[in-house]
Amino acid sequence: MDLLLHRRLPPLLLAVLVAASHGVPSSGDDGGYDASLCVWEPYTCGNVIIRYPFYSRPGALLGNTSSYCGYPGLEIQCEDGKAFLELESGNYTVSSIDYDNLTVQLVDPEVVDGRSCPWTDHNVTFRSFEWFYYPNTTVDLLFFLNCNFLSSDLTRPSNSSSTACKFDGGGQQPWLGMSFVFLEQDVPFRETNWWRYCSVVIEVPVLRFGLPLDPQNDRTWKDGGYSSSLRDGFQLALNQSQKLPACDQCELSKGRCGYNQTGGFMACLCSGGRVSAANNCTAEPSGKPLYKLLCCFSKFSGDCWLFCSKFIVPSLFSISINRSPFLSMI
Ligand SMILES: *[C@@H]1O[C@H](CO)[C@@H](O)[C@H](O)[C@H]1NC(C)=O
Ligand SMILES: *[C@@H]1O[C@H](CO)[C@@H](O)[C@H](O)[C@H]1NC(C)=O
Ligand SMILES: *[C@@H]1O[C@H](CO)[C@@H](O)[C@H](O)[C@H]1NC(C)=O
Ligand SMILES: *[C@@H]1O[C@H](CO)[C@@H](O)[C@H](O)[C@H]1NC(C)=O
Ligand SMILES: *[C@@H]1O[C@H](CO)[C@@H](O)[C@H](O)[C@H]1NC(C)=O
Ligand SMILES: *[C@@H]1O[C@H](CO)[C@@H](O)[C@H](O)[C@H]1NC(C)=O
Ligand SMILES: *[C@@H]1O[C@H](CO)[C@@H](O)[C@H](O)[C@H]1NC(C)=O
Ligand SMILES: *[C@@H]1O[C@H](CO)[C@@H](O)[C@H](O)[C@H]1NC(C)=O
Ligand SMILES: *[C@@H]1O[C@H](CO)[C@@H](O)[C@H](O)[C@H]1NC(C)=O
Repeated sequence: MDLLLHRRLPPLLLAVLVAASHGVPSSGDDGGYDASLCVWEPYTCGNVIIRYPFYSRPGALLGNTSSYCGYPGLEIQCEDGKAFLELESGNYTVSSIDYDNLTVQLVDPEVVDGRSCPWTDHNVTFRSFEWFYYPNTTVDLLFFLNCNFLSSDLTRPSNSSSTACKFDGGGQQPWLGMSFVFLEQDVPFRETNWWRYCSVVIEVPVLRFGLPLDPQNDRTWKDGGYSSSLRDGFQLALNQSQKLPACDQCELSKGRCGYNQTGGFMACLCSGGRVSAANNCTAEPSGKPLYKLLCCFSKFSGDCWLFCSKFIVPSLFSISINRSPFLSMI
C-alpha cells in the first residue's frame, strides 16, 4: 500500500496523507487528554504491582474534574512503600492484588497496632457507585461490645460465650458490660435483636481461610486469637458486570476506560493522549479510515467534504503550502 502511494500520488498528497495518518490534531469533539493519567506501564509499590484498572491519581478528562483512567474507586495511594486504597469508611492497606479474578486484599491499619484484643470502631462501607463485593473467600466477624442485659432477658448469648477481652470504647476506662465475638453464621437468637443492649455492633470482614475449625467453641480464639484474622485482612472483588459494553470494546482495542467522579463512563482513552469517540482505539483517530482520505481527492461530497474541510485544509496550512492546484479548486 505504501509503495503504491509513493508511485501514484503527487508529493503534496503524500505529505497530507502522512500528516493525517499521524493524527492531525482535531479541534473539538474528539479532543485529547493528559495521557499520564493512565497507568500504561505497571509499577511496583512495596511488593504490590499496580496497573490498570487501578490508577494513581484523578485529573480532568475532557474538562470533567476528578475523573480518572481506571474503574471507579480503584485509586491507589503509594506512601512509604505501602499501597493504600480509600473506601468510604477509611484508607486500607493493600496487601495484594490479583489481576486474573480482579480481587484485592485489604487490611484495616487500625487493627494492626499490636493490641491483644484489637477492634475497629467502624464498619467497612463503599460508595454507591463502586463495583466492590465480598467474594466467598471473605466472611463477617461480628463484635457486640459492652452488652448490659436485664436479668430477665433469657434469649441472649450465655455468659460463657462472651469474650474475656476488655474493650474500652476509646475512653480511659474499659467497658464493664460483656462483649461477644461471633462469626456471622454463629450469631445466636438472630430474631430477637438482643444486641440492642450492646453499646456497639461492628461487622469486620475476614478471610475464611485461617479461621479455626470451630471458632464458636475455641476459647483462645475468642479471647484475642481472632486478632490474627484481623491482621490478615479481607478480600474485595470487582463486579465486572457493571462495566458498559462501550468500555469492553474500548479495552479489546487496547484502550483504557475513563470514568467521572460519580462513576459514570466518560471516554475511551487511547495511547498518546487520544480519545476515541467510537470507543475503539484501533479505528483511525477521527473514526475515518484511510480510504475515506483517498476519497476526498476523488470526489468532494457528503461527509468526505466535511472531513476534508475539517482536517485536510487546516493541515495544508499547517505545513505551509498555501498555493496549490488543490486549494485553488475550493
Ligand atoms: C485517606 O487518606 C487521605 C490522605 O491521607 C485523606 O485525605 C482521606 O480523608 C482519607 N480517607 C478516609 C475515608 O479516611
Ligand atoms: C483470586 O485469585 C487469588 C490467587 O489465585 C486467590 O488467592 C484468591 O483467593 C482469588 N479470589 C477469589 C475471590 O476467587
Ligand atoms: C467460591 O466460589 C468459587 C467460584 O466463584 C468456587 O469455585 C469455590 O468453590 C467457592 N468457595 C467456597 C468456599 O464456597
Ligand atoms: C452473667 O454475667 C453478668 C454480668 O457479668 C452477671 O450479672 C450474671 O450474674 C451472670 N449470669 C450467670 C448465669 O452467670
Ligand atoms: C455495622 O453494621 C451492622 C450490620 O449492618 C449494624 O448493625 C451496625 O449498627 C453498624 N455499626 C456501625 C457503628 O455503624
Ligand atoms: C454485579 O452487578 C450486577 C449488575 O448490577 C448485579 O445484578 C449483580 O448482582 C452483581 N453481582 C454481585 C456478585 O454483586
Ligand atoms: C458522570 O457521568 C454520568 C453518566 O455519564 C452523568 O450522568 C453524571 O452527571 C456525571 N457526573 C458528574 C459529576 O459529572
Ligand atoms: C462532564 O461534566 C458536566 C458538568 O460539568 C456534566 O454535565 C457531564 O455529564 C459530565 N460528563 C460526563 C461524561 O461525566
Ligand atoms: C475497532 O475498529 C477496527 C477497525 O475499524 C475493527 O476492525 C475492530 O473490529 C474494532 N474493534 C472492536 C472491538 O469493535
